[in-house]
Amino acid sequence: MPASVYKKKSILITGGCGMIGSNLVRRLSKEGWEVFVADNLWRGKVGYLYDEEGNAVIDPDSHFFNVDLCDPDACEKVVGRTDYIVHLAARVAGIEYVFRNQGEIFRINNLINSNVFHAARKAGRDKIKGLIYVGTACSFPAARQNNSNPEPLREEELFPAYPESAYGWSKLMGQLELDYLEKETGIPCCTLLLHNVYGTPADYGCRSQVIPALIRKAVLFPKEEFIVMGEGDQKRAFIHVDDVTEAILSALERGWGKGCIQIGPSYCTGIREVVETIIRISGKKIVPRFDPSKPEGDKARCADYSKAKEILGWEPEVDLEEGLLRCYKWIEKSIING
Ligand SMILES: NC(=O)c1ccc[n+]([C@@H]2O[C@H](COP(=O)([O-])OP(=O)(O)OC[C@H]3O[C@@H](n4cnc5c(N)ncnc54)[C@H](O)[C@@H]3O)[C@@H](O)[C@H]2O)c1
Repeated sequence: MPASVYKKKSILITGGCGMIGSNLVRRLSKEGWEVFVADNLWRGKVGYLYDEEGNAVIDPDSHFFNVDLCDPDACEKVVGRTDYIVHLAARVAGIEYVFRNQGEIFRINNLINSNVFHAARKAGRDKIKGLIYVGTACSFPAARQNNSNPEPLREEELFPAYPESAYGWSKLMGQLELDYLEKETGIPCCTLLLHNVYGTPADYGCRSQVIPALIRKAVLFPKEEFIVMGEGDQKRAFIHVDDVTEAILSALERGWGKGCIQIGPSYCTGIREVVETIIRISGKKIVPRFDPSKPEGDKARCADYSKAKEILGWEPEVDLEEGLLRCYKWIEKSIING
């Protein structure tokens, strides 16, 4: 892409067609940023870059790049041309997909991260004013996530590391590589370590995460049986995508050079409770079947977000029940519209 198209506040969102990315693109465009998106549409959709009236949020012809960031040459063509980068692209999926494809996820996420960071390194400090990466709470040691009533996790507990999944390891490798990049190049960096994000637009298909998967089952009930993976006792610190967008916007102003900052609520919610709320929202008489033979991941985790509060002035705002209701309506409409 020609360098001349970039204005002062230009930003590249990798993975910008995904759930978090498309929300961020919308907000940044509204606030006057010139936003570019790089995504290979593995899970994201170009349609998410349009508003409800069908207007494009960014010009898809000039500002969207359908690139596989695993390819270093393709990556270099798009990364390192804007003032800022928010690097969200990754292979993200529900637990069943993650545990069935550990090696592939590990390899692909490491390739994407390493290529993006290498291109940023080549562009250098003179060009890039800041780079934000998102890590995951899955990177915390498994041993800190096996208690059903957990103490909130603190950032410094990431090490010594022993995440449960290859996904958690791959995201942690990205975090490490970003730290080296920041030290060696002086490019201002920030890692936001996210807990379980939900919201819309949502992938509710076979690679979806727990909330959209449960909502899809409720919408399709009784045509589809309402089966819950595991016994329903596992707990997560669910965080709405709007709260994550706020955290990223704040990090763009105040997050630089502060290491990793955790984003998530200080309490966790059991899957059983999420299931009950979704069933209540559906208004249907659903009796869920819990299937203990399916993977359910770590037992429980939540966040001590005092660092986010202190540095970013961030606190979670969207109530889980309200967030689930919005998500339910979106998925229901989307299923009805085919
Ligand atoms: N959703 C969560 O619960 C959660 C929690 C912690 C961290 N995160 C992180 O947040 C980021 C965004 O996640 P999300 O929930 O919006 O997921 P998402 O799947 O909606 O978005 C990821 C985007 O990356 C794109 N992508 C995947 N492989 C790519 C490749 N090789 N080249 C270019 N683009 C590629 C996908 O098409 C998708 O649009 C990810 O880095 C994820 O690890 C998400």
